[in-house]
Parts: sequence; C-alpha cells; structure tokens
Amino acid sequence: MTVDTQQKLSQDQIAEFYHDVFVQDQARDFSALVAPLDGVIVDIGGGVGYFAERIRAEHGNPVRVIDMDPESIARCSERGVPAQVGDALNPPVIGDEGCVCFNLILHHLVARGEAQTRALQKGALMAWRDHETPIFVNEYIYQSFLGTVSGRLIYAITASRILSALAGFAARFIPAFRANTFGVGVRFRAHEEWMALFREAGFVPEAVRIGAEEQIKPPLRLLLIKTIRRDSFILRPAGTA
Ligand SMILES: C[S@@+](CC[C@H](N)C(=O)[O-])C[C@H]1O[C@@H](n2cnc3c(N)ncnc32)[C@H](O)[C@@H]1O
Repeated sequence: MTVDTQQKLSQDQIAEFYHDVFVQDQARDFSALVAPLDGVIVDIGGGVGYFAERIRAEHGNPVRVIDMDPESIARCSERGVPAQVGDALNPPVIGDEGCVCFNLILHHLVARGEAQTRALQKGALMAWRDHETPIFVNEYIYQSFLGTVSGRLIYAITASRILSALAGFAARFIPAFRANTFGVGVRFRAHEEWMALFREAGFVPEAVRIGAEEQIKPPLRLLLIKTIRRDSFILRPAGTA
C-alpha cells in the first residue's frame, strides 16, 4: 500500500508565515460567508493565531488553533489563543466544533506526485466529512493562460531540488521568483480545480467570495499565470445542505 506522506516545510521556512498580512481579508470573507453559529471555531493550520484571535473578538465564539508547528502553538498560547499541536491529516476532533477553517494551508499539503497530493488535500477535508459543521476555506487561486498549467508548473519547480535550486539562483536577480517552499513543493490550483476537489471530497461549495487580483511581476508570466488571487469558500458535507 502506498502511504501518502506529506512533504513538510522546515522550521525556518514556516517562520516566514509568522505574520498577519492576510487576516483582514480572511476575516472579512468569513463574516460575509458564515452565518452566526454556536460552537468552537477551529483554525486548522492556524499558525500564530491572528485569524482565530480576530474571529473570537468579532463573533464571540470560542476558538482553537491546530497547527503542526510547535513554535506557532507557543506563540498562540502567549497571546491567550487556545491552541494545540496537531496534524490536519489526522486532526483532533472533539465534538464541540461549530466551524472548521482552512486558511492558506491546503496548498501546503503536498506529497511526491499529483495523485498523492490530491489525496492529501482531499483527506484534510474528508476528516470532517461526518461532522456536519460548515468548512471555511481561504485559498490561493492561480488562473492560467493555458488550462490549469500554472499551478502544475509551480509545483514541478518547487518540489524538485534541481529546479528549485535553479529558481533560487534566478531569485537572486529576479525577486519575483522568491519562494520559501523550494525543495518541498507547493500546489496551487485554479478556481475550478479547487471546486472539483471539494466536490470529490464529498462537499458542496455553498458560497464563494472571489478575491482581489494581485499584481503579477512580469517574470512570473513565464509560468503562464493570468491571475493570482485569494478566494474563500464555504463548504457543506454533501447531503446535509
Ligand atoms: C501558509 S501558513 C498559513 C498560516 C495562516 N493560516 C495564514 O493564513 O496566514 C501554513 C500553515 O499550515 C501549517 N501546516 C502545514 N501542514 C500542516 C499539517 N499537516 N497539519 C497542521 N498544520 C500544518 C504550517 O505550520 C503553517 O502554520
């Protein structure tokens, strides 16, 4: 049997995510998409807890961060955000959850190869399939000039040690090529690809918010990228909507 093992970022690579740059957009989308609910709002891959902290302040629900990085969990605890070390692929399910959030984590669930990567990304969602709680997803969207090729090219470059070494060399001269995921891999998808993956995992995308288009530096156009943005989705287990 093939075991789908996640290729994980190092501590130094994860430390580049200790910021609150995306929280404002994520919290705005959450408030627009998620109706008031009871229960704990769980943030899977919630990092240092900025999203959870803000949602608790705005909605009054208790929150819980689950992240594999112990340093992130320590930083949550320092600021009074309940948090525990845990794996998105085998999450601690307590039974008090009102909503489960995945903010910019699914694209980090990568294995060696596309089929295994897809299985990991679906698996993280399927872990919550039987719990009837809505799922909030905020994810990077890479639309391409040619089908869905940009996300696959970025994965091929970032997952390969040789290609990422070349890209890292190029990044010395072309800052647009900088990536802290080199050698591990990152799997962005087009909007319709994420929608198909959600459906395959057994969820109905109930509502969507399309994010603002980010500026694309000219060298990145070599990867046939048409648009980069962050979209949010609210998913319901199929059959419960
Ligand atoms: C790009 S950061 C996103 C942080 C935050 N959610 C945000 O939107 O700014 C990805 C986070 O996912 C966490 N992560 C990656 N794989 C994980 C896994 N299998 N289980 C739990 N956390 C994971 C990392 O430690 C990191 O904190």
